[in-house]
Amino acid sequence: MNNKKNLPFTQLPTYQKLQEHYEKIKNLHMRRLFSVDPFRFKKFSMEHQDLLLDYSKNRITSETLPLLCELARDANLEEWRERMFRGDKINNTENRAVLHTALRNCSDQPVFVDGKDIMPEIRAVIDKMQAFSEKVRTGEWKGFTGKTVTDVINIGIGGSDLGPKMVYQALRPYHHKKLRLHFVSNVDGAHIEEIIERLNPETTLFIVSSKTFTTQETLSNAHVARDWLLQAIPDEKAICKHFVAVSTNQAAVKAFGIDTDNMFEFWDWVGGRYSLWSAIGLSIVIGVGSDNFNKLLLGAHEMDDHFQNAPLEENMPVIMALLGIWYNNFFKSESYGIFPYDDYLRSLPMYLEQADMESNGKSVDRDGRKVDYPTGPIIWGTSGINGQHAFYQSLHQGTKMIPADFIVSMLTHSHYQEQHNIMFSNAIAQTEALMRGRNIDETYADILASDKKPSGVEKRIHHMVFEGNNPTNTILIKKLSPRTLGGLLALYEHKIFVQGVIWNLNSFDQWGVELGKQLAKQVLNDIHQPHNINSHDASTNALVNYYRETINEA
Ligand code: F6P
Repeated sequence: MNNKKNLPFTQLPTYQKLQEHYEKIKNLHMRRLFSVDPFRFKKFSMEHQDLLLDYSKNRITSETLPLLCELARDANLEEWRERMFRGDKINNTENRAVLHTALRNCSDQPVFVDGKDIMPEIRAVIDKMQAFSEKVRTGEWKGFTGKTVTDVINIGIGGSDLGPKMVYQALRPYHHKKLRLHFVSNVDGAHIEEIIERLNPETTLFIVSSKTFTTQETLSNAHVARDWLLQAIPDEKAICKHFVAVSTNQAAVKAFGIDTDNMFEFWDWVGGRYSLWSAIGLSIVIGVGSDNFNKLLLGAHEMDDHFQNAPLEENMPVIMALLGIWYNNFFKSESYGIFPYDDYLRSLPMYLEQADMESNGKSVDRDGRKVDYPTGPIIWGTSGINGQHAFYQSLHQGTKMIPADFIVSMLTHSHYQEQHNIMFSNAIAQTEALMRGRNIDETYADILASDKKPSGVEKRIHHMVFEGNNPTNTILIKKLSPRTLGGLLALYEHKIFVQGVIWNLNSFDQWGVELGKQLAKQVLNDIHQPHNINSHDASTNALVNYYRETINEA
């Protein structure tokens, strides 16, 4: 299926209308929009469960969203949404269904892939994960020498690391009090070394998480872990007590030496970056327990339900996606900021970098045509409060417009309420400052208010003016919990899906990661040659040869 009449994004009927609308309103200042409409917040905000989305600080008028929704309808969004939920093979380059939503299907509805209801299998794996996790959490699962597990290390990378690590960090108040979870992803030996040097192999459990079980970094780290264990306990039988695997590739798991009874399965219709809801979430279940994992799934399911059933105009992921398109394709902004104001969400930007950029960072459409419009933006960010003292200067006074999401928790898990008040006030003040700015008269008045006879004011006043009109969304989370986190993550997943549909992309493959992997194998081979190499370009040859010489001389 393709968008109506198989038209590229820029030839969708409403694209032209939006272009005209953009020309009309591009210079309107949000300050003015607020001043003429006291109901702007009411009009441009919505709530779902414990999430409030305020999108009133965007460069939109009452005409903008209806037009953007029309654009979404031109692209057949509602039909694509249905196709995803019902298990059609919308990942067309890999001929796969896209069913991370089935993993958190808390309803009694079946979901079919190739005519088979997949819900019983999903539930069986969840049961197996939960039974195993409970054994680890209660101490019933013992290491080979009979000792209780104290440390669990998830070895994985990309979607097999970022999601579980971010969720585990986000749910710190729900952590098991005695078990410690660790995440190893980097193939730099320093990463695993730094973790295992503090641990006792007899009380350590490894989860090797890899959808394909062929990923070089993960397998290499898993071998280091295996050698470390066998050095301390020189008996291969120890492996089955200290290693479990999460994968779709049973043969490779077996070849590694992990008992397939200790393998937690998932399926090719779960994309790596959408897999934290699957057995890839095993470390989450061990870390926060089955009840909390179920609540995470429930929160996501509730968002799925909202996304699937709410009209586009009242649909939170759709609205966020359309606003993103508004800036990306009409204002031509190139990047998008994610600024959490909740320390437990500090890894969310990194997680979303993969979720979004691996999904929509594409330059051919789903039919293989080169696109002539910008697709996925550069996603970046960090903890907002730290960002204020680093890069916010550029948000306020730089030459680039960077739309951003401010994600703020209202109720804190910490005991320090006034600290939380300070953080909250900073978040909201930043969105106000970014929107409103400060013109030259206001700047002058502010200077006079603090210094009645300012000297050299003419010299600096232009440096102190803020143009404002920088768009932001604010997402208020009532309290960060497994359920609200589930909803928040599903919100972003669906936002990414909607944008992919409108840009006519396949958001569920990632061919762009392959070339580098292939060349890295070649370079590794070159490093092991007994002589200098000459088979690449001059730069690559020189760098590889310099490296070879350096390590050989060391
Ligand atoms: O290289 C990118 C990627 O394929 C991601 O899509 C994926 O999340 C990651 O690598 C890890 O893959 P795997 O789970 O198969 O080890």
